[in-house]
Amino acid sequence: MRYENLGRSNIKVSNICLGTMTWGQQNTEAEAWEQMDYAVASGINFFDTAELYPVPRKAETQGLTEAYIGSWLEARGGRDKVILGTKVVGRGDGDWFRPFSDTTRLNREQITYALEQSLRRLKTDYVDLYQLHWPDRPINLFADSRGYVHREAPDSIPLEETLQVLGDLVTQGKIRHVGVSNETSWGVMKALHHSETAKLPRVQSVQNAYNLLNRLYEQGLAEISAREGVSLLAYSPLGGGALSGKYLGGVLPTGSRQQLFPGFASRYQGTAVEQAIGKYKRLAEDHGLTVVQLAQKFVDSRPFVTSSIIGATTLSQLQENIAAFEVPWTPELETGVNRIHLENPDPAP
Ligand SMILES: NC(=O)c1ccc[n+]([C@@H]2O[C@H](COP(=O)([O-])OP(=O)(O)OC[C@H]3O[C@@H](n4cnc5c(N)ncnc54)[C@H](OP(=O)(O)O)[C@@H]3O)[C@@H](O)[C@H]2O)c1
Repeated sequence: MRYENLGRSNIKVSNICLGTMTWGQQNTEAEAWEQMDYAVASGINFFDTAELYPVPRKAETQGLTEAYIGSWLEARGGRDKVILGTKVVGRGDGDWFRPFSDTTRLNREQITYALEQSLRRLKTDYVDLYQLHWPDRPINLFADSRGYVHREAPDSIPLEETLQVLGDLVTQGKIRHVGVSNETSWGVMKALHHSETAKLPRVQSVQNAYNLLNRLYEQGLAEISAREGVSLLAYSPLGGGALSGKYLGGVLPTGSRQQLFPGFASRYQGTAVEQAIGKYKRLAEDHGLTVVQLAQKFVDSRPFVTSSIIGATTLSQLQENIAAFEVPWTPELETGVNRIHLENPDPAP
């Protein structure tokens, strides 16, 4: 395991971060505890969660993931040994998140409420990294195409105002550092500008999708990571499981994400995605690897990635994924993935 600073903070995080978003939906509390025990025994010191989890999001299960982490922390102790990241939802229509509002927004009232609820569920009095799950302004990241569609929202909460709230929570000791997620180059640079000019918390990390099927982070954001010292926390390194190759051939394994929640995983479905995965699988096999090993190690070997946020629904998947990071990355693999990327660029934007 490698440990690197989170952004320009003095927090050291493992290069593998344990994703949690299946706990409370696909996974029970006992399975979540088993995963946390195994992860910590393997040297992982970084967990990623969110007030929204588990997914797919719904009122009946919301908060269960944080509650499972809280019960584990209470039973196992050692809160200071774990770097805990959670998130507050951005602008949205989930009417179950706040008792006083039918919509979610990144304003003072809502962020303060959300954090109190997360701390209560997590059974802790601080989180190490508090992330904005997505912005308050309309963004273009979950679009059906790569084209940019500009949408104005004059009532958007200005980023500066949101950062002021987060700054107060840092002063109160409830959060140590601040991060963003599903963010664009403009958003990250704007946040850095505010932190420098108005003495607001510096954004230490960006949590965006990044994997062999979606390398869009390299168009702008990677340079920001390198020059500004902002860590990429890469989510979905296996493209939600698609990069295991198990969906090739059209038979959806029972109990898998694509079989259980087709709409939720649609980004990682379709002909273009399958073509690219087929090529990556052949490349892996030509080098004596599995495509899981190739996909995990590709993300891990990028200099702008501080931690890969992995996910698993079984202990054996978790074991396979953690072990994949031991594979050496070679110039031949680098050439091979770049060739396929040129031929099949970002089929899952
Ligand atoms: N900020 C955000 O908006 C955002 C979005 C997504 C994720 N995240 C974070 O990132 C974490 C990881 O995301 P992800 O779950 O999409 O990551 P992923 O690693 O791309 O996919 C994980 C899923 O793939 C399948 N899988 C994992 N290992 C496998 C293996 N070795 N062989 C075959 N199938 C395997 C499992 O699903 P099945 O068993 O169901 O097939 C597992 O749940 C989340 O838990 C969350 O913490 C954040």
